[in-house]
Amino acid sequence: MSHTISSGSPGTTALWVAWARAVEHRRPDRLFHDDHAAAFLAAAGAEASTPPAEFCAALPVAVATRTAFFDEHLRSVTVGGIRQVVLLGAGLDTRAFRLPWPDGTSLYELDTPELLAFKEPVLARRGAAATCRRTPLAIDLTDDWPAALCAAGLDPARPVAWLAEGLLPYLEVEVADRLLTAVGRLSAPDSTLALTYNPEAMRALADAPSGRHLAGVGVAHPALPGRPEPWLARHGWQAHAHDIIEQAVVHRRIPAAAMAHTSPGSSASWLVTATIPGQQSHHPPPPR
Ligand SMILES: C[S@@+](CC[C@H](N)C(=O)[O-])C[C@H]1O[C@@H](n2cnc3c(N)ncnc32)[C@H](O)[C@@H]1O
Repeated sequence: MSHTISSGSPGTTALWVAWARAVEHRRPDRLFHDDHAAAFLAAAGAEASTPPAEFCAALPVAVATRTAFFDEHLRSVTVGGIRQVVLLGAGLDTRAFRLPWPDGTSLYELDTPELLAFKEPVLARRGAAATCRRTPLAIDLTDDWPAALCAAGLDPARPVAWLAEGLLPYLEVEVADRLLTAVGRLSAPDSTLALTYNPEAMRALADAPSGRHLAGVGVAHPALPGRPEPWLARHGWQAHAHDIIEQAVVHRRIPAAAMAHTSPGSSASWLVTATIPGQQSHHPPPPR
């Protein structure tokens, strides 16, 4: 039996992200390969997986940029020695299959039972072979996910590369705080944290007419500060925030001329990497 993702759930937006990755995959100058993305769309059907028309221009740019940015980050930190990777709210991410992980890498994908019940059969039908030791973990991140993650094999005595890509908008601020506290407790020295951070941009979108599409898919608009550094510092992380528009120029997804109309940081949408102060730093190289 094939599972579906219910139309009012956050899993819907994982399909929208897969749609955007499929768009990037079809480009001759693609920044990454993701041939599983189209299979997810085919399994879900066009109606369920096509984003609202208002998002169809900007979403491929944002998703291609952040995907390439975090691909580079995860490559860099695993080449640097980290062998445990945790994707929080993994959605239809296929990095376990498409990135060249160093030997001995374990990658954990945490998402809801509903999302993984859709994802796993699609990958199995394709005979998808992971390039690391992959463990999907069906759990709600409002539950006791740290215990489940450790029971599944995560060793908190060894460093972890955490990624929360596109996750924070779905969490109430108290849940986001608890999540970060738990991440900190499981982070041995040299661990890294990467995330997308855009509460101001999401709040602005919520007030726009197209914001109605997000209201129906579980976006909580957490009351977090506009920039990520103070919030992450409160949780013990030293963050480096990269403006997604600048990164879209770096990755050639918008022309440099577009920057002439914006001031640095004006997008209010950040790609963030963080380390614990005093520890080794694994940051992607500065923009080329
Ligand atoms: C916008 S999608 C992003 C998915 C993926 N990180 C990516 O970039 O392709 C957000 C994901 O967060 C997951 N999510 C939201 N709230 C969650 C929760 N409380 N527990 C587990 N997963 C959650 C959703 O199911 C969805 O797959």
